[in-house]
Amino acid sequence: MATGLKLMRAIRVFEFGGPEVLKLQSDVAVPTPKDHQVLIKVHACGVNPVETYIRSGTHKIKPLLPYTPGSDVAGVIEAVGDNASTFKKGDRVFTTSTISGGYAEYALAADHTVYPLPEKLDFKQGAAIGIPYFTAYRALLHSARVKAGESVLVHGASGGVGLAVCQIARAYGLKVLGTAGTGEGQNIVLQNGAHEVFNHREHNYIDKIKKSVGEKGIDVIIEMLANVNLNNDLNLLSRGGRVIVVGSRGPIEINPRDTMTKESSIIGVALYSSTKEEFRQYAAALQAGMEIGWLKPVIGSQYSLEKVAQAHENIIHSSGATGKMILLLE
Ligand SMILES: NC(=O)c1ccc[n+]([C@@H]2O[C@H](COP(=O)([O-])OP(=O)(O)OC[C@H]3O[C@@H](n4cnc5c(N)ncnc54)[C@H](OP(=O)(O)O)[C@@H]3O)[C@@H](O)[C@H]2O)c1
Repeated sequence: MATGLKLMRAIRVFEFGGPEVLKLQSDVAVPTPKDHQVLIKVHACGVNPVETYIRSGTHKIKPLLPYTPGSDVAGVIEAVGDNASTFKKGDRVFTTSTISGGYAEYALAADHTVYPLPEKLDFKQGAAIGIPYFTAYRALLHSARVKAGESVLVHGASGGVGLAVCQIARAYGLKVLGTAGTGEGQNIVLQNGAHEVFNHREHNYIDKIKKSVGEKGIDVIIEMLANVNLNNDLNLLSRGGRVIVVGSRGPIEINPRDTMTKESSIIGVALYSSTKEEFRQYAAALQAGMEIGWLKPVIGSQYSLEKVAQAHENIIHSSGATGKMILLLE
């Protein structure tokens, strides 16, 4: 895979462990694209919580060591392999996956995981699309099967996935309620599609949501921290309501009876269970959102490659998200 001619800076992980196992190296060979592959000059790469779980060695995905983390890059096509006919050198693109890893100056990707990045979005925004927006779209349209006019609570709306859910849900005609843990996060949620916002760090915020939605309850809850919230969620739902579990970091005790009276459902979502055809469908809808303008990623904290360990520390022990966390390589 290596050309032997060109070297790049990239993060390498040689052993699973804490953030300190993320090592910046400056002599990593730039890969060469083969059949149906492209090489991207990376300008920005999204940091997703799952990359911390994988790095720690506790996730079911365990890459062969050493590896470079990162799936959501935005940049410019540098070279194309045979039959990667959709793209040419110089095209602006973003990805939902990489072969060689996105925390690097160059990344190799299979061409079916690469999408054109419209001029109206910058590279930082491009790096915020992959996992967050495709997950948000799957959670709402595939898992919850939302209908226009329904209500949705985005439980954890200020981060990468949450803001994507707010924008998509509003564009699809839902009544959108969101939560965030800081005033700044709450404002951003309101500016990105939510009709109402609540602070999940306030002790009585569930009562405030109950008061707002009344007897009927909420049709759909997109849940970012199920191990904390699932019990409350079941009590907030409407008849036939659905909780979609996007994020969970541990166990929780619930009373299954809470699902019976209202015939509610708890549905898990895993983006990487999506088929190639589903990725194509989601991409088409999201591409329309970029063209029309309702899909506008919000960037939160930004880090250089040198500070990647800090980024991994902060995404798990966050003092309050204000959009999507990214690495900048420019
Ligand atoms: N299932 C899948 O396929 C899939 C795909 C992508 C992501 N995920 C998971 O989804 C979760 C969110 O991902 P992300 O990229 O959006 O992460 P992120 O950008 O770090 O955002 C985390 C969000 O969780 C919120 N949060 C913190 N405490 C909360 C609480 N008590 N109740 C509700 N929300 C709370 C944060 O709000 P404040 O910071 O404002 O407090 C923030 O909005 C992660 O667990 C991730 O692993 C799953």
